[in-house]
Amino acid sequence: MVIRSLRSTARKALVFAAAGALAASGAVALAGTADAASTLGAAAAARGRYFGAAVSSGHLGEAQYTNTWVTEFNGVTPENEMKWDTIEPNRNQFNFAPADQITTQARSRSMTIRGHTLVWHSQLAGWVSGLDATNLQTAMTNHINGVMGHWKGQIYAWDVVNEAFEENGTRRQSVFQQKLGNGYIEQAFRTARAADPNAKLCYNDYNTDGQNAKSNAVFAMVQDFKSRGVPIDCVGFQSHFNSASPVPSDYQANLQRFANLGVDVQITELDIEGSGTTQASNYTRVVNACLAVSRCTGITVWGIPDKYSWRASGTPLLFDSNYGKKPAYTAVLNALGGSSDPPPDNPPPDNPPPAGGACAATVTTNQWQDGFVGTVRVTAGTGQVNGWTVTITLPAGATITSGWNANRSGNTGTVQFTNVGFNGAVAPGQSVEFGYQGTGTGSDVTPSCAAS
Ligand code: XIL
Repeated sequence: MVIRSLRSTARKALVFAAAGALAASGAVALAGTADAASTLGAAAAARGRYFGAAVSSGHLGEAQYTNTWVTEFNGVTPENEMKWDTIEPNRNQFNFAPADQITTQARSRSMTIRGHTLVWHSQLAGWVSGLDATNLQTAMTNHINGVMGHWKGQIYAWDVVNEAFEENGTRRQSVFQQKLGNGYIEQAFRTARAADPNAKLCYNDYNTDGQNAKSNAVFAMVQDFKSRGVPIDCVGFQSHFNSASPVPSDYQANLQRFANLGVDVQITELDIEGSGTTQASNYTRVVNACLAVSRCTGITVWGIPDKYSWRASGTPLLFDSNYGKKPAYTAVLNALGGSSDPPPDNPPPDNPPPAGGACAATVTTNQWQDGFVGTVRVTAGTGQVNGWTVTITLPAGATITSGWNANRSGNTGTVQFTNVGFNGAVAPGQSVEFGYQGTGTGSDVTPSCAAS
């Protein structure tokens, strides 16, 4: 029972710390099975880091999207919901609801939340551009206070200023630069520190991933801020790569030189166009670089499945458009020290494989405040299974709202799932998975499996 109750995704994050305790409790077999974390978030947590994804509130209704997010990641950045044009579309009218959809769920799962972004020339509300300097100054302060105040104490790090430099290292001629002058970045950071003293304050940019004119300019700014006591805690490296803009050879050295200034570094918007082993090895390089820099506190990929990437045609993410795990996914998981091939949930001898022709089922439930996702693994015994039915009984009040990879007989009480066309055949000892999402409390279900 100890072993079974510990066999959850969350437990895997703790496995290294807990190995000694497990051995002491007599569960020596478990401690000896090289029980690596099987999700990106758990593997990153075991390395003292978060692994996040940019999430769009508009996709949360898609069960596989939400399920992949909450199963695989332990961090999140709202992809557009905190940008000025969405969150303060009219002066002093704040629209927090779209971002709240994401942060509420993230908080119920203790995820690391990055706030993105407060002062940026793009996706800026139209009214801001028309202000004179005095009004713009007031509006920027009010915006930072309003947005940061809403989530005070809840955000791990804020991208206070985004993309303020040109490729040649000069200041981008944004409305903030033109009307407020060079001092606007410092003003923004000072305002942000007062608005939420517990949030880490980051400067975030792209094409700063190796040493070049632009990253040198950011470096000089951070050095200056540090020397004058201007509050800054971290630098975000967007890390959008493709063949025209590959992972630079000095990627790790560049992260390290910033870290040496006394700030954390974070990889904030990672995506790498490509496919197969080339894409996978590029991802590996980025993850290894972060792991080699002790002040690199986490990595965020800029989306979940390729189909929702802002650069979808370049297939730059870890999951394909059907949520299949790409070679890049496996490469990242392995680089983090995890393994996509965990031991079966109920290994022998405490739960021997079913006899020939039979099947067994296990359920892993991710429960949050008012909803759940169940992932069911169907495992064939010593003989081939050619079709299966899994029966579960949901607790009172639990209602399934959607599911995937199985047909379903109902939504409450005793529910039967049968295979769909592509996953009925299960070879001896092999497994297939299906899932469901619902409202209420869906944990503590015991599945049974019948082969047909
Ligand atoms: C992108 C989003 O992914 C898109 O959905 C949106 O249409 C445009 O912005 N740098 C940033 C991110 O800091 O906010 C941008 O996100 C990508 C580039």
